Amino acid sequence: MDINLDKIKDKAIESIDNASDLKALDDIRVSYFGKKGEITAIMQRFKELKDEERKELGKAINLVKSAIEDEIKLRQKKFTEKILGEKLKREAIDVTLPSKKVNIGHLHPCTIVYNDVRKIFEKMGYTVVTGPEIEYDLYNFEKLNIEKGHPARDEQDTFYINDKVLLRTQTSPVQARVMEKGKLPICIISAGRVFRSDSVDATHSPTFHQIEGLVVSDNISFADLKGTLTVFAKSFFGNDIKTRFRPHHFPFTEPSAEMDVSCFKCGGKGCRFCKNEGWIEILGCGMVNPKVYELCGLDKDKCQGFAFGIGIERLALLKYEIDDMRLLYENDMRFLNQFD
Ligand code: DAH
Repeated sequence: MDINLDKIKDKAIESIDNASDLKALDDIRVSYFGKKGEITAIMQRFKELKDEERKELGKAINLVKSAIEDEIKLRQKKFTEKILGEKLKREAIDVTLPSKKVNIGHLHPCTIVYNDVRKIFEKMGYTVVTGPEIEYDLYNFEKLNIEKGHPARDEQDTFYINDKVLLRTQTSPVQARVMEKGKLPICIISAGRVFRSDSVDATHSPTFHQIEGLVVSDNISFADLKGTLTVFAKSFFGNDIKTRFRPHHFPFTEPSAEMDVSCFKCGGKGCRFCKNEGWIEILGCGMVNPKVYELCGLDKDKCQGFAFGIGIERLALLKYEIDDMRLLYENDMRFLNQFD
């Protein structure tokens, strides 16, 4: 048999080296070892050979066979690695990429303000108490020294349920409920919803929120009131602000005052925000009226204390510079999403 095995091997190895992909490699394999393959054909002719010749050619052909097979395997490995590498690259996860923001909802500006205020007073030792939104006239008015026919009742247009029951117009009835229990000292705040028969506009709503404060012991003075509320105002608006107390009138406190803070936008010089006043009113307060102690069953000669009432919406409008209260209630996500 006249066969040049070296030539076959070199040709095979050259075409293996030039193969462009796995499919081409397989075609090569078939062209040598397949049914009609070149090597297969040689082996089929073995029977024509003598024993001696067959042995020799068999050895040589096995060497060529494994050389070609090895070369095919090597190329196969390279192609598979390349394909795998590309696949890995395609599927790779970049762990350094910032994560997507999860939409988890957040607090309403009024809740944020309430939490801030509550924390300030809790740090000063105040306890939080609650009271009912549906209230007796007795607590909302009578025990707070606002008897029937009192002009203060007109100021707070009331939703009556019947002669005796109403939707509370203020959080002050909680004061009466706490004092009525007769346990001193008292140092509480109470927050919640209040109702007034007002029509909706930029500064009014039939329902809004207040925070009430009450401190009663035997020797609490107006200086304590001023000190406490100034600490509160500085903690809430910033240390630079100043406070001032203007005489006012509330039936349940005597003397009464409204507290202003110096405008935190212009520092008190006067600007659009503070309507050129330099000052912004933020709460009502005063020394508990001795008549209220009596009406709530406490000994007026043994009690001395102060009270205050803060509008939560008012603080939120000021803090976030919102000029229309209605925005707080409309639940427009574009508005609410700004308060994380
Ligand atoms: N209840 C008052 C209002 O709704 C606010 C207020 C003023 C509460 C003075 C107080 C206070 O406790 O001392 O207008």
